[in-house]
Amino acid sequence: MCGIVGIVGNPNTTEILLKGLEKLEYRGYDSAGIFVADTNSNQLVKTKGRIKDLREKVGTELTGTLGIGHTRWATHGPATEINAHPHTSTNQKFVLVHNGVIENYQELKDTYLAGIALESETDTEIVVQLIARFAEDGLSVKEAFKKALAVIEGSYAFALVDKADSDTLYVAKNKSPLLIGLGADFNVICSDAMAMIDQTKQFLEIADGELVTLTADSVGIEKATGEKVERSAFTAEIDLADIEKGTYPFYMLKEIDEQPAVMRRIAKEYVTDSGEFAIDANLLATMQASDRIYIVACGTSANAGWVSKQIFESLAKVPTEIHLSSEFGYNLPLLSEKPFFIFLSQSGETADSRQVLVKINELGYPSLTITNVAGSTLSREAQYTLLLHAGPEIAVASTKAYTAQIAVMTVLAKALGEKKEIPEAFAFNLLHELSLVATGMETMISEKHLIDELAQAYLKETRNAFYIGRSVDYYVSMEAALKLKEISYVQTEGFAAGELKHGTIALIEEGTPVMAFITDAATAAHTRGNVREVESRGANVLVIASESVSKADDQIILPNVHPLLTPLVSVVPAQLIAYYATLQRGYDVDKPRNLAKSVTVE
Ligand code: F6R
Repeated sequence: MCGIVGIVGNPNTTEILLKGLEKLEYRGYDSAGIFVADTNSNQLVKTKGRIKDLREKVGTELTGTLGIGHTRWATHGPATEINAHPHTSTNQKFVLVHNGVIENYQELKDTYLAGIALESETDTEIVVQLIARFAEDGLSVKEAFKKALAVIEGSYAFALVDKADSDTLYVAKNKSPLLIGLGADFNVICSDAMAMIDQTKQFLEIADGELVTLTADSVGIEKATGEKVERSAFTAEIDLADIEKGTYPFYMLKEIDEQPAVMRRIAKEYVTDSGEFAIDANLLATMQASDRIYIVACGTSANAGWVSKQIFESLAKVPTEIHLSSEFGYNLPLLSEKPFFIFLSQSGETADSRQVLVKINELGYPSLTITNVAGSTLSREAQYTLLLHAGPEIAVASTKAYTAQIAVMTVLAKALGEKKEIPEAFAFNLLHELSLVATGMETMISEKHLIDELAQAYLKETRNAFYIGRSVDYYVSMEAALKLKEISYVQTEGFAAGELKHGTIALIEEGTPVMAFITDAATAAHTRGNVREVESRGANVLVIASESVSKADDQIILPNVHPLLTPLVSVVPAQLIAYYATLQRGYDVDKPRNLAKSVTVE
């Protein structure tokens, strides 16, 4: 989604802004722009398309010591150069970039901006015009900005420049992420520490509702009431090498390949050699005292939630529900007496999940965020956090975060189960099983050439496809289908194998690809029955089966691992199928159309 960078006090401003925007490309965007200022000139460059197009348009002449930049993921108005940020007030005094959605933009326009001809279709332009309007009434820049913030409803991270002052950046946020980075003789802002990690490792968080005045050598944070805020910096633990592609053609392939290492890292971070868990005792006590777990998540994280539900119910014997954040927030189900909430989110910034967490906090229920990003909004606002330790995930299609979420949930379920003295929790050695999973993943990863060929044979020409399975294989089918559809644009359904005959089997015709997961002896015979049903109707079937239940002509054989952990291995060929099918169709694997990595609007 939209990304913001900004800098004050650095003669290399243009290049730092462009590089920062390149690092934010992974979030997803469709237009971009920068504004650079110094005492002699003010220059704005915007474009529809990619940062490389912006770079070409900027050329080599644009210099200055203060600037702001933006990648836009269209919400109000299509992706055009005019709608791209930064936006300028009609009186040419102010320039603004914005991440988020202004909910009352129409009301603001009607109330304050009658007679002003707007250039763009964006909600952002309303804000910059509003600030200009208040400043024309005689308010200082800061006071005008503050007055605008007081009447704006919605989510935002703003960076504002007064063109007459090339020494000061004004910043504010509500719900949307924004960080201050502390440089040597300069300061920066960014939506994500990754964007500025080559400039500084020292960052400051901004809380919702605060206004920050930034110069080259000062950071003034204040609340809406004017009360000053002192805050210490934190060190961002991001390694530059982690965010480079290295020799890989795409981040997605790199991230698929990293999964065995992530499994080993999670084992090391959370389980000692003697089998003790490095998990906050208060977290486990709070979970033990609860009578039901509610997992709240979106997309791939929700799919990881489905697998985790089964793990929690098996190992910790606690009823577990899984809910989509976008549904849950506005349609609260009847909750149990002592609910415990787990927010699964790779980015820790997903607005749909955050709105649920805000509600849960208001209701006073305990919560845990499991995320890949330390210091992210969902992490800060939940009572507890567990990190995924997966390293930055850049490809829009989530891979290593999915498997890391299931692995961390397994650690947590086992720790809780042991605390509750549930026999099933003691029945296996997690370190050993995670090590087998890592090796099993490596086996799958080593079969890339086979999977490439299968993708070619089954998916090259098709417009639709199915993944099917029962029980946990059904949950993996949902994730496998999401992976394939979101990057290859093959319309794919992840379906409960036994449910097909109740209607959806009508879609099966000659050549329809149906990929079946068969990993569990208890359901294998039934799923094979469903495979025969679709084959009889012309489907082109590919079977992904665990060794223990495989048959001679199955196409992909998975190494056996602990039954609860099978999804960690079975999802890997599905990730690779999605990757190769997309390459074969000639699409950009890492940046699928219409999608954003960090979904910061509801
Ligand atoms: C799909 C994908 C998305 C995310 C979803 C939630 O590959 O990545 O479905 O899983 O947008 O994002 P997080 O996990 O950051 O809350």
